[in-house]
Amino acid sequence: MITTDITLICEQLNQGELIGLPTETVYGLAANVFNSKAVSQIFETKKRPTTNPLIVHVASISQARTLVKRFPDKADQLAKQFWPGPLTMILPKNQSVSQLVTANQENVAIRIPNHPAALSLLNQLDFPLVAPSANPFNRISPTTAEHVEAYFPAIYTLDGGACQSGVESTIVGFEGNDVVLLRHGAISIETIEESVGRILNRTGALTHASLPGQHAKHYAPTCELIVTYEPLFMLSAVKQKRVGILWFKSIQIESIHVDVNLVLAPSGDPIEAAKNLFAALHTLDNMELDLIIVERLPAYGLGITINDRLDRAANK
Ligand code: TXA
Ligand code: MG
Repeated sequence: MITTDITLICEQLNQGELIGLPTETVYGLAANVFNSKAVSQIFETKKRPTTNPLIVHVASISQARTLVKRFPDKADQLAKQFWPGPLTMILPKNQSVSQLVTANQENVAIRIPNHPAALSLLNQLDFPLVAPSANPFNRISPTTAEHVEAYFPAIYTLDGGACQSGVESTIVGFEGNDVVLLRHGAISIETIEESVGRILNRTGALTHASLPGQHAKHYAPTCELIVTYEPLFMLSAVKQKRVGILWFKSIQIESIHVDVNLVLAPSGDPIEAAKNLFAALHTLDNMELDLIIVERLPAYGLGITINDRLDRAANK
């Protein structure tokens, strides 16, 4: 059920229900962080392993401080610069945050979402919200209220329009004085390094499963997906199938062997590509194709984040 009624959404959350939450990155499946039953319900609804911790969404830096033991100087600097915004920070939790939220880790992931409806909601509540992306485990992330509705029709989703960033938040942690990158996201490494200097990249190899949530397979459509710098070369090898191609900037050729051609970002701007990425994958996923071929982006800025999502979507 899609609604714009924030009061109704508040009531739902106060009663321990889950709701669909608009943010600037992707829609979240949200619940009261302090209600263990509701938090468990998130894992069940998403079919998400309980070893995969949740991000806590807060209204302010001062609310974030109520959840942690320490707020390192660099975290403070990053919070002042990027919050509200698509930066999640991993910080040492205090006893107010349950082990269920953090998957038994001593650290908690926190961010302030930069979306007017989400901020308005958080300011009306007496508690922060845990919110993983509102997709079943491993499926394509939702960037509209309609995407959430299609996955979870029984819950209320607060309609906040199409997400501005379109890919999940960048996640960083802290090791001594160093900032470490744990997930590529809506803020590029370059942008974070302009703020705090060189950061350590711990996003790891695709198959590296020891970082929570960094599962090799993720964001996946139901049909096969291949990501390549050379869509036409790939196409020549798979002629017999119902194929869709997702081009980065422009269609290189109208081939009779392609059932659908979509362009991700006519401007050639990776920011536009990020915004459209998941919606394009949802569209292609609903076209009963046998194969989706996606053109890989140049590997800088948000191109790195998009390629990361595509590689996980392609992983079998
Ligand atoms: O943009 C976003 O971050 C979206 C919106 C809804 O805010 N949320 C999101 O949540 O992407 P989710 O659950 O799909 O991904 C959260 C990831 C986990 O998979 C895990 O990698 C990391 O955050 N994470 C959460 N808590 C952590 C912790 N305590 N330590 C390390 N990583 C953590
Ligand atoms: Mg997710």
